[in-house]
Amino acid sequence: MAQIDLVTGGAGFIGSNLVHRLVQEGRSVRVLDNFSTGRRENLNPILSDIELIEGDIRDPAALEIAESRRCCHIGAGQEQRHYSLYFQEDVL
Ligand SMILES: NC(=O)c1ccc[n+]([C@@H]2O[C@H](COP(=O)([O-])OP(=O)(O)OC[C@H]3O[C@@H](n4cnc5c(N)ncnc54)[C@H](O)[C@@H]3O)[C@@H](O)[C@H]2O)c1
Repeated sequence: MAQIDLVTGGAGFIGSNLVHRLVQEGRSVRVLDNFSTGRRENLNPILSDIELIEGDIRDPAALEIAESRRCCHIGAGQEQRHYSLYFQEDVL
């Protein structure tokens, strides 16, 4: 069974570019994104090639579903004034 690459925030700017690249390289990709800023359209051309899970990385149930041995964590916000929220997102 092929190893799955989990990309959190895979519907965002950086994440979706990474997902496109991984798919191009023939990898099996699973995206976990809550669509707070990301857009499904960013993944439109490759939607049938990936597994897309809508969920929050701070939700243990979503993480359990999305679990993978290889993870690229891009799913976090950008504004520094929300640092405590982003600390939660980055320190799992
Ligand atoms: N874009 C840049 O030039 C740049 C430069 C340096 C660092 N960064 C950092 O890289 C990260 C990604 O940047 P981006 O430009 O791709 O931002 P983005 O907003 O386009 O992408 C972030 C993605 O993460 C998702 N997300 C956010 N919180 C989530 C959560 N709790 N659970 C699941 N998904 C969640 C969003 O829906 C979105 O799809 C950010 O932390 C940003 O600060 C970006």
